[in-house]
Amino acid sequence: MTDSKEKHLWECSVCGCLIEDIEAPYICPLCENENVFFIKQEKEEKMKFQEIKNNIFYCGLNDYGRKIFDELIPLEHGTSYNSYLVKGSEKTAIIDTMYPPMTEKYLKNLADNNVENVDYIVANHGEQDHSGSIPALLEKYPNAVVLTNSKVAENIKSMLLVPEEKIRVIADGEEVSLGDKTLKFILAPGVHWPDTMFTYIKEDNVICTCDFLGAHYTFDDVFAVECKELELSAKRYYAEIMMPFRMLSKKYTQMIKDMNVDMILPSHGPVHNIPDYILDLYTDWTSDAPKNLVVMPYVSMYQSTTEMIDYLSEKLEAKGIKTFKFDIVDDDLGDLAMSLVDAATIVLGTSMVLAGPHPASVNVAYLASVLRPKAKFASLVGSYGWGGKLFDLIAQLLAPLKLDLVEPLQVKGKPKEDDFKKLDEMAESIFEKHKSIGLV
Ligand code: FEO
Repeated sequence: MTDSKEKHLWECSVCGCLIEDIEAPYICPLCENENVFFIKQEKEEKMKFQEIKNNIFYCGLNDYGRKIFDELIPLEHGTSYNSYLVKGSEKTAIIDTMYPPMTEKYLKNLADNNVENVDYIVANHGEQDHSGSIPALLEKYPNAVVLTNSKVAENIKSMLLVPEEKIRVIADGEEVSLGDKTLKFILAPGVHWPDTMFTYIKEDNVICTCDFLGAHYTFDDVFAVECKELELSAKRYYAEIMMPFRMLSKKYTQMIKDMNVDMILPSHGPVHNIPDYILDLYTDWTSDAPKNLVVMPYVSMYQSTTEMIDYLSEKLEAKGIKTFKFDIVDDDLGDLAMSLVDAATIVLGTSMVLAGPHPASVNVAYLASVLRPKAKFASLVGSYGWGGKLFDLIAQLLAPLKLDLVEPLQVKGKPKEDDFKKLDEMAESIFEKHKSIGLV
């Protein structure tokens, strides 16, 4: 993400409304006053407390400033850490908590909104962006008990030192009554940790899916508004977090579809009150069929590899195959991850550094192998100066993907006439591969 694309909050000097955009507008869209100026607002973490449905409240936080998650994939729109308060006629539960650095604001938000008693803290997942505030909550609400499965219990005991006596381990399908509301726990291991579970609130027909179906995204209103920005954030999130578990993601997408829930409450990003929006996207992303797309990550020290990638891309496009060229050094890894959701073929380009592939290309090959995209085919192109093994390590890293390999091309220095002929052949081979699975 570059700063030039970053959106800011602008406050109208006349009516005080806030507008989110890259640049300040000329005319205020609300008061329509032309004689205004706009004051840039610094975004900061913002707590929310909003009723979602019949005594179910959102009590999470927007973290506008977060630029990267897992120290891996850049975040274009920050993220949110969602927590839900469920008030039954007899008991009150909190479902998922907060990222530890935000604990103080989180507790203040609960206090400001008169949450005086909590009976249950439901931990759907042990990762600390959701479980991190459990110790502080237990201190604030000493009668509360953590309801969770055995795997989360082990994780929060070891990662957060939650005392065993404060945890009640529940089983798959078990129900806990809050009076006029019932929590039903559904174990969902693998989306994305072995400990993950969902909590279904029966009477309201809503499901809390923790990380599953989430997005690193911030919002003013908690309900999702369909837009390209949200779709891409959800796709970027899926690519990094759920794609390695595509078959399980597919299974749970179908399960939730079959449940016909009224709302999906994930632990990042907005609440889906039109569940089909996110479920249909997941149905597409998790399907077995790739799209007619070749993803081409490359790193090039003296432009020879770039020349080969550009040439091959042009030839593929001429054959009706879409390509996505990705400069490994300059481009955003999240864009690469997203493109891998759909790609049928990966062509990786690399220069030689010393006697092996450029380390940046090794990183991308490793990332691709752990993200486990549904791609079927691959090839490699690259250039070297004085010798070495350009492709062995890359091929070894990509091996777990079991890709059908199209003859790679390694060139000394700049590509020459013969090399361009070989690139023509490579384009033809990729075309035939795509044809064999009905993509062209
Ligand atoms: Fe958002 Fe797996 O934590």
